[in-house]
Amino acid sequence: MKLQDKVALVTGANSGIGKGIATRFAAEGARVVINYHSPKDDQQAQAMARDLGHDSIALIGDVSKRTNVQRMMSQIVERFGRLDIAVNNAGIEIKKPFLEATDEEWDRVMGVNVSGVFYVSQSAASQMVKQGGGGKIINISSVHEDIPFSGYTSYCASKGAVRMMMRNLAIELAPYRINVNNIAPGAIATPINRAVLDDPNAKEQAIEEIPWGRFGQPDEVAAVAAFLASDEAQYVTGSTYTIDGGLVRQVTKY
Ligand code: BGC
Repeated sequence: MKLQDKVALVTGANSGIGKGIATRFAAEGARVVINYHSPKDDQQAQAMARDLGHDSIALIGDVSKRTNVQRMMSQIVERFGRLDIAVNNAGIEIKKPFLEATDEEWDRVMGVNVSGVFYVSQSAASQMVKQGGGGKIINISSVHEDIPFSGYTSYCASKGAVRMMMRNLAIELAPYRINVNNIAPGAIATPINRAVLDDPNAKEQAIEEIPWGRFGQPDEVAAVAAFLASDEAQYVTGSTYTIDGGLVRQVTKY
């Protein structure tokens, strides 16, 4: 077991890629903190924590709000006395032509995808330093930290920001032996892609762009997250791991 007794916070862990990561981390022996955002998911998130076992807990909190993140971190330290791994997985995307996008939509995407990563990473790293150093920060960004996606300007801008935040933190936190890396998923079969997955034509078109010929699965992303969160990745920092079935190679063909 790669993560025996480690305390791991996964934001947005009650669905999609986050759920896959939380499940894999628990299977590797971690005590998982499942962060979720909405009161309507209370019961489901609590049930998930019970299912994962290993003292796992579920904590509500909106990562785009500093006060929520602070509260969550206090609850984690109160419960476990430490934090070893933080996975910034919570993220949203809004499809809108650039000329029609509103300030409110821009702020929402930036709030969760960028400020959320800033708040969670800063409070996690502060706690890790307080413990005497060591720790892992993993951001779930996207292939769109690098390649454009028409209709998703705020999303792409937010993921580009996370790419640079990760690179800076990797340098600043290296003296404390905190590893900081990104995972850049391509098209993964999760609720964020529901509209495409539910529309046979859109799905076929999406698959045509993927050399591997299918969507990825959350557990395929989780496998890389488990490696990055483990002691085996001690010398890995400041990098992005793309998991996309070759999608970005195909896109750069055009
Ligand atoms: C987006 C998906 C998209 C995928 C590949 C992801 O970051 O969330 O909507 O299908 O990138 O373009």
